[in-house]
Amino acid sequence: MSSASTTSVFMPPAVTEVAKNVDTLYGFLLIASLISCILVIGGLIYFAMKYRRQGDNDKVPYISHNTALEFLWSFIPFVIFMVAFVWGWVVYYQLRTFPVDSMEVMVNAQKWNWVFTYKNGRKSPALLTVPVNQNVKLIMTSKDVLHSFFIPAFRNKQDVVPGRYTAVWFNAEKLGSYQVFCAEYCGDNHAGMLAKIDVVTRAEFDQWLSTEPYKGLAPAQIGQKIYSTSCIACHGLAPGEKKTGPTFAGIFGKTEELEGGGTVTVDENYIRESMMLPNAKIVKGFQGVMPTQSGQLDDEEVAGVIEYLKTLK
Ligand code: CUA
Repeated sequence: MSSASTTSVFMPPAVTEVAKNVDTLYGFLLIASLISCILVIGGLIYFAMKYRRQGDNDKVPYISHNTALEFLWSFIPFVIFMVAFVWGWVVYYQLRTFPVDSMEVMVNAQKWNWVFTYKNGRKSPALLTVPVNQNVKLIMTSKDVLHSFFIPAFRNKQDVVPGRYTAVWFNAEKLGSYQVFCAEYCGDNHAGMLAKIDVVTRAEFDQWLSTEPYKGLAPAQIGQKIYSTSCIACHGLAPGEKKTGPTFAGIFGKTEELEGGGTVTVDENYIRESMMLPNAKIVKGFQGVMPTQSGQLDDEEVAGVIEYLKTLK
């Protein structure tokens, strides 16, 4: 969170070396464009005033060409464009060359959340924790549609595609918490498809990685954690709140009317079924757009969500 305060009005904080290089190149392009703009528009205004029509007998001299001038106005932009091209290529090469000693993390995208899986099997929805000054490679795929993994503070963005793997790498040099966005329109809650990257010290990371994620938590607290990462985009907590899915307020024990007729009482089995087979019984007035949580949540987590829903009035 500390990093957020250093955000300038211009750009988010630059947390990686690549990000700084992108900013420097961007600054060069901005200044080169600004100078060109002033020269061209300024020249236009100056000449329009200086050579405006002065009287009825104004004669314009015939000028066929000026070799030196034409060479300069072609050659100088050519040099500027080549500098931008080579410089851009160098930064892009750095962005796309994966260091061999990277720590690898799998990323699974689906409507509308991100799940990170570490080598030791630890899964973390919506929160990627990494050590500072460590090369990290994310190997990403999608369960449903195109998403795009975008970390503004790292100046890094990559499409996440169903049926194939894509990757990004970074080395965060500053401790802090950085925002991840989905940058490819992927449906109703595209804007709510968020995650955080926590950059912590090596010791904090080792401890985080080896700790059971739900250690010492009651089932309802586990459920609340899962709600805040995996359900929150589509299910509200206020009575009557209508997001993509029904509100969770007072949902347990309620009798819901179903699409296509009939009713169901919301009990443990209905909640479990709705997570594993979301299209089996859809509440009236909603669409069957929820992705299955089968393979995403284990038994402990499903039970946690059920217990959490029971606490919501
Ligand atoms: Cu996922 Cu937009």
